[in-house]
Amino acid sequence: MSLELKIATLENVAEVLTLHYKYQVDSISEEDKKDGFITTAFTESHLTRLITEESGLFIAVKDGKIVAYAMSASWGFWCQWPMFEYMVANLHDATLLGNELTENNSYQYGPVCVDKSVRGEGVFEAVFQFALKEMSARYPFMVTFINKINLRSYQAHTRKVNLDVISEFDFNNNHYFKLACKTS
Ligand SMILES: CC(C)(COP(=O)(O)OP(=O)(O)OC[C@H]1O[C@@H](n2cnc3c(N)ncnc32)[C@H](O)[C@@H]1OP(=O)(O)O)[C@@H](O)C(=O)NCCC(=O)NCCS
Repeated sequence: MSLELKIATLENVAEVLTLHYKYQVDSISEEDKKDGFITTAFTESHLTRLITEESGLFIAVKDGKIVAYAMSASWGFWCQWPMFEYMVANLHDATLLGNELTENNSYQYGPVCVDKSVRGEGVFEAVFQFALKEMSARYPFMVTFINKINLRSYQAHTRKVNLDVISEFDFNNNHYFKLACKTS
């Protein structure tokens, strides 16, 4: 399969939003829910800031079509949503291989989304590793979270790429794993 990995530009925003809303909790089809969904309702303005201020939107393109995205950005960017404020306030509750995680030495990866037409084909690993490599120039550690009901995402992130569960937390009646890894 020929897959192109790119840092998204503003001209990709509309197509990424189309992919996003196919799997966002308010608009995903009932049959797709069991394979995971994304909670945050991103807007054009959120993605514009993610691209222009963070260079943090990574995409995989197959046959001219965007089939996956992964987001990564500073905690400062994510703190416009209350859950990330909570995560920042609790960053100190776990270490990664003895390393303290801070707002400055780590960033938040996710969400990630792979179109169902290409799942299980290595696209997830490719876009994940591309985003990680790009962010490694800026941060030594990556932190993320997975809703405990998203079994597919948990399997992908713990078996297909090298993330460690470092703690667990609850927010808004949802239960999450907190995961992290070194970026290089
Ligand atoms: C989560 C996601 C990025 C993973 O990418 P993917 O291409 O589907 O991942 P893979 O298929 O390579 O790996 C998932 C593994 O979980 C397994 N799996 C699938 N459903 C499962 C379930 N209900 N319980 C346990 N394991 C499950 C798959 O069989 C696969 O393992 P295998 O290859 O050994 O068979 C993708 O499914 C997706 O975009 N889902 C919708 C959005 C989402 O949930 N994003 C993550 C949250 S931010």
